[in-house]
Amino acid sequence: MEIAIAPPSRLEGEITPPGDKSISHRAAIFNAIAQGNATIRSYSPGADCSSTLRCLRSLGVGITEDSQHATVRVEGAGAAGLREPANVLNAGNSGTTMRLLAGVLAGQPFFSVITGDSSLRGRPMGRIVKPLQQMGAQISGRGQGSLAPLAIRGGNLHGISYKLPVASAQVKSALLLAGLFAEGESEIQEPVATRDHTERMLQAMGAQIAAHGVVVRVQRSTLRATDVTIPGDISAAAFWLVAGALHPCARIRLKHTGVNPTRTGVLDVLRQMGARITVENSRYEGGEPVADITVESSSLAGTEIGGDIIPRLIDEIPVIAVAACMAKGTTVIKDAQELRAKESDRIRTTVQELRCFGAVLEERPDGMVIHGTGSLKGARCSSRGDHRLAMSLAVAALVARGKSVVQGAQAASISYPTFWEDLRAVSGLSGEAVA
Ligand code: S3P
Repeated sequence: MEIAIAPPSRLEGEITPPGDKSISHRAAIFNAIAQGNATIRSYSPGADCSSTLRCLRSLGVGITEDSQHATVRVEGAGAAGLREPANVLNAGNSGTTMRLLAGVLAGQPFFSVITGDSSLRGRPMGRIVKPLQQMGAQISGRGQGSLAPLAIRGGNLHGISYKLPVASAQVKSALLLAGLFAEGESEIQEPVATRDHTERMLQAMGAQIAAHGVVVRVQRSTLRATDVTIPGDISAAAFWLVAGALHPCARIRLKHTGVNPTRTGVLDVLRQMGARITVENSRYEGGEPVADITVESSSLAGTEIGGDIIPRLIDEIPVIAVAACMAKGTTVIKDAQELRAKESDRIRTTVQELRCFGAVLEERPDGMVIHGTGSLKGARCSSRGDHRLAMSLAVAALVARGKSVVQGAQAASISYPTFWEDLRAVSGLSGEAVA
């Protein structure tokens, strides 16, 4: 699908971002292994979270979806209630599905195989395979266990004390989930704090889990099914935060957005660049902080982004790069080599596609240097099959001079199927202009 975008005269309105993708995966998986039934509200409508539901059904979990109301009902199978799947599990494009489920499957006394699309089959899995093997699971995969498909024969796990070599919430979560099925205690240490949705939700569901700084300890536990209302996804809101800050006539309010501090690096960086952002009505929902965020037209300056903030904004770097192109001065993004292991090599694809808009940027092994020129020119560009790149390029198109075409625009549906509708709503562009 190709979408044509001509820059609108204003960007204005209110958006409730789709349910947070990370929290949705966790709510479904944790309730699937819990005792009792639970209702999840505002479940992410993205294809990734549907992949998680599909895999859980194949493991014998009763799931009822009411897509119109974004509600999912999960009948918990209990700690020992999953059944051997009759076929290969397909995680689609979703790294979170594959890695978190691998942690669960490592604890099950049956055989399973999990695979994904060509992007996911190219992403590193050794990072979960090695520690899960150390816990006692038998796992093999292509490339000596470094790539999916993964074949898993689980059960009889024992606790582990493990220092993560990379800052990854998916790896941390996979090991914590395996730890729920393991004999003794598991202690996981991260090099830098990453998103803590797993720790919060497992605690709320009655797991024996305790986090002290970057160290998390968990013991074998049975979870209690728990209803969850999922906050709006700040990673989806980020596209509007940047579009609103860059457009000369903009005011966008993002309602019911998750503001967990392990995810709000994008707010810190945009503010540091000069963005006019206000956060109001802060409240807690299901153990997660939520707020309404308003962004207004701003003039941005370049900045430096690196170190401990990187995991707090890792998924927002492509759209932050768009902000940096439109800012005055140079932006340096470093310590972000993990971006190369995402749905696409996001350092390379972001640099290459933004160059189509006349942006001046250099690729670095661990990031990029962006020479902000304060303007972009309309371009023909491609999502390269990556949802976050598709939406970042749409933001570039909204503020570029002249018309742009985003090829492969359907990729947005991995995390934000209503993105193009919301774009029409806030830009006032007609169906023809965004066709
Ligand atoms: C996620 C963790 C991050 C992030 C991904 C979702 C999660 O990945 O990029 O979009 O839900 O735990 P890594 O754990 O690989 O850094």
